[in-house]
Amino acid sequence: MLFTDAGSQPVLQVRNLRTEFRTSTGVVAPVNDVSFGVQRGQVMGLVGESGSGKSMTGYSIMGLVDKPGRICGGTIEYTGRDGVTIDLRALTQEQMRRIRGNRIAMIFQDPMMTLNPVLRIDTQMMEAVLAHEAVGTSEARRRAREALVKVGIPSPDDRLLAYPHHFSGGMRQRVAIAIALINKPDLIIADEPTTALDVTIQGQILFEMQKLCAESGTALIWITHDLSVVAGLADSLSVMYAGRIVESGSVAEVLESPMHPYTQGLIGCAPSRSRRGQSLAQIPGMTPSLARLPVGCAFSERCAVVQNDCQRSAPLQTNISGRVLRCFHPVRQKYEINV
Ligand SMILES: Nc1ncnc2c1ncn2[C@@H]1O[C@H](COP(=O)(O)OP(=O)(O)OP(=O)(O)O)[C@@H](O)[C@H]1O
Ligand code: SF4
Ligand SMILES: [Mg+2]
Repeated sequence: MLFTDAGSQPVLQVRNLRTEFRTSTGVVAPVNDVSFGVQRGQVMGLVGESGSGKSMTGYSIMGLVDKPGRICGGTIEYTGRDGVTIDLRALTQEQMRRIRGNRIAMIFQDPMMTLNPVLRIDTQMMEAVLAHEAVGTSEARRRAREALVKVGIPSPDDRLLAYPHHFSGGMRQRVAIAIALINKPDLIIADEPTTALDVTIQGQILFEMQKLCAESGTALIWITHDLSVVAGLADSLSVMYAGRIVESGSVAEVLESPMHPYTQGLIGCAPSRSRRGQSLAQIPGMTPSLARLPVGCAFSERCAVVQNDCQRSAPLQTNISGRVLRCFHPVRQKYEINV
């Protein structure tokens, strides 16, 4: 669907990314050997339970991992519209600052990570344009107003003069989304940004984001717990568990015939059951602490089809008919689903 530039470089190619935290109980890796690519104009859904490393993957790509965390392995290749590929990890802080908010933008779970509480909305939005482009203030203001309209903010001229504390939480999030859209970036990483918004506004924002991708070739990584959002929005799906991507593939294939027992558990697989409009299912057992992962497969303590070999070593990433998997015993069964 949408804009695809077949045969071209992905706008983002992450390979073997590893981000570690040194804690009092030892070193944990919320991002552990993570690899994926996102094509221009495509939407990738990144799903997984709380604590699986979804946000940390986003922060790692954006160069926003704070101490005591650090990226300690892998590459994050970004290919701009000029076709030039750069490894974001090799950039200086200043070079990364020029890309952030301009060519790659992130929408955070908390909009106040984007908004400055003491500055007026017009100042912040115009600054987002002027920091990266040599345009006049009237053009910057026009773009700010246009972005507010796109995310469904009523009376945009009045709203431009307001401060963040004049807005409700949902309205603040819409402004943060507008700021991410304002420079028509090559890639947006959206970290559950619409969860707190009402369903009508969610629909409007998803529609705008899809339109942006189609028109301008912007790629989107949509982090979510909500499979109904992913089913309607994404082209591809990556499922994270305990810092690793355990299954990825096209959204239709992964939802129709999930092969990893964890993905099956998340979807609540049952033959002949429609999963449209459904959030992630509960899987028996607890997500293991990253500091005390079981030996072997991290999912082994909760897996319904665990075997002896699963507890000896961790499964490596394999590619089975276009599906990327980390499992010694993938399940092959087709389910009926209306995606
Ligand atoms: N400052 C920190 N020190 C140590 N470990 C951390 C720190 N920040 C995050 N982590 C680890 O990173 C893991 C992944 O966190 P992350 O926020 O990426 O999860 P998530 O998938 O986005 O979860 P959620 O759905 O709740 O937002 C956490 O479980 C935690 O173990
Ligand atoms: S490797 Fe084994 S324990 Fe892990 S998900 Fe696959 S079958 Fe289950
Ligand atoms: Mg998160």
